[in-house]
Amino acid sequence: MKTVSILGCGWLGKAVADTLIKKSYAVNGSVRSEKKGKTLKTIGVTPYIIQVENTGITGDFDSFISKADILITAFPPGIRQDPNANYAARIKQVLASLPSNCKLLHMSSIGVFGAMQGEVNESTLPIPDRNVGEQLLDAEKSVMALGTHATIIRLGGLVGDGRHPAKQLAGKTGISAPTAPTNLVHQIDVVNFITAIIEGNFWGETLHCVSPSHQQRGDFYTKECEKNGLALPQFSKNKSGRNKKVLDTKSAELFGFTYQLAGCHFKDC
Ligand SMILES: NC(=O)c1ccc[n+]([C@@H]2O[C@H](COP(=O)([O-])OP(=O)(O)OC[C@H]3O[C@@H](n4cnc5c(N)ncnc54)[C@H](OP(=O)(O)O)[C@@H]3O)[C@@H](O)[C@H]2O)c1
Repeated sequence: MKTVSILGCGWLGKAVADTLIKKSYAVNGSVRSEKKGKTLKTIGVTPYIIQVENTGITGDFDSFISKADILITAFPPGIRQDPNANYAARIKQVLASLPSNCKLLHMSSIGVFGAMQGEVNESTLPIPDRNVGEQLLDAEKSVMALGTHATIIRLGGLVGDGRHPAKQLAGKTGISAPTAPTNLVHQIDVVNFITAIIEGNFWGETLHCVSPSHQQRGDFYTKECEKNGLALPQFSKNKSGRNKKVLDTKSAELFGFTYQLAGCHFKDC
């Protein structure tokens, strides 16, 4: 039986754990509180309380990782909550503790690309325009140094299972960039994408996981709010240069991946 350890077993990590357990993997999952650890136990995950800080890792990381065939890093940069969070340094510490026989599946973000980079795919050089993007990219560079021991997935905005940006935007005013494309991906598609990589042994890759349905933000969120009886969002009329459209050009070729929930509609969330 293969063991997968998920560092950051939150909204996405738990969904991945649930699927892997059903496929007979042993799953270790980390959270930062005992209470959340108890919830993990109820779905069959062996819980660990671990926190990756800028200068150390608290908790029993050695046991968490010792039997793992694959480590999935699925904790966010955390810079919005703590401006002093150094995500790149945190990932470097995790890598320093990674046993040599353990593969790494690293959850990164399309945030490595600047908002005005236009159409980008896996061959495009990311030029981040914010601190968080720089840190994500710096972390990716450390992961890439592992070569065929690791794969990076750059995720679009995550929707599904109670999460959809239309919920947050409903009734808001002055929202920027109405003509910018959406770059979303549904939780179900991400879980299938991760499972395909693990089961097919696709290592040494940097992949984009973003729904191929890119709509204009203004139209999309207005329609989604309309259909669901939410207060309509008001978009700014000011011009915006924001035009990032992130394409997944690799996964179909590598492992025949197709997005089931390409539209990322509110009704699926
Ligand atoms: N949300 C998006 O739209 C989006 C977009 C692109 C990429 N991503 C990436 O997708 C991954 C999963 O995101 P998510 O939405 O599932 O996140 P989430 O729901 O916030 O879950 C994050 C998990 O990581 C744990 N965690 C947070 N900071 C940590 C730290 N410093 N050390 C150790 N554990 C820590 C949390 O513990 P507690 O449960 O105890 O809080 C939680 O279990 C992340 O890598 C994120 O960067 C997300």
